[in-house]
Amino acid sequence: MILGIGLDLADVRRYAFDDRAMAWFARKIYTAEEMAYALRKRNVAERLAGFFAAKEATRKAFGHAIPWRRVGVTHERGGKPGIVLSGGAERLIALRGVERIHLTITHTASTAAAVVILEGDAQR
Ligand SMILES: CC(C)(COP(=O)(O)OP(=O)(O)OC[C@H]1O[C@@H](n2cnc3c(N)ncnc32)[C@H](O)[C@@H]1OP(=O)(O)O)[C@@H](O)C(=O)NCCC(=O)NCCS
Repeated sequence: MILGIGLDLADVRRYAFDDRAMAWFARKIYTAEEMAYALRKRNVAERLAGFFAAKEATRKAFGHAIPWRRVGVTHERGGKPGIVLSGGAERLIALRGVERIHLTITHTASTAAAVVILEGDAQR
């Protein structure tokens, strides 16, 4: 059963940070894992835009404001992305009966997009 869906677009130009902005965003918005991932890839701004879109899409799927760094994008070995909630935000998962969170991300030089789907098993 689908419990929630969220979609978001991000303009990649806004994520082409200078060093100072990068440090701020790394502290306030992105998890350490997201920063490490983006910085070891080409097209850093595209990755950071994609992660931001994923965070926004997650908020929309839950219909709930969640602090930016409490929503993290993680990657399986094959590159498939996923969402991890932390720091108290993970309580939302049990509260809503969410069993799985699905995430897909795409990005071009200009735009990044993410879709999040919350799936549950139990009838509530
Ligand atoms: C996954 C793949 C389709 C990405 O397509 P692309 O057009 O090059 O790039 P896009 O901008 O559309 O997508 C990139 C995003 O795809 C996601 N992605 C990467 N590997 C993925 C995978 N195995 N499964 C699902 N999503 C994946 C990531 O979120 C990535 O962005 P990020 O690394 O910044 O998080 C391509 O890299 C590919 O074919 N990989 C090898 C085969 C594979 O694993 N395919 C699975 C899906 S058919």
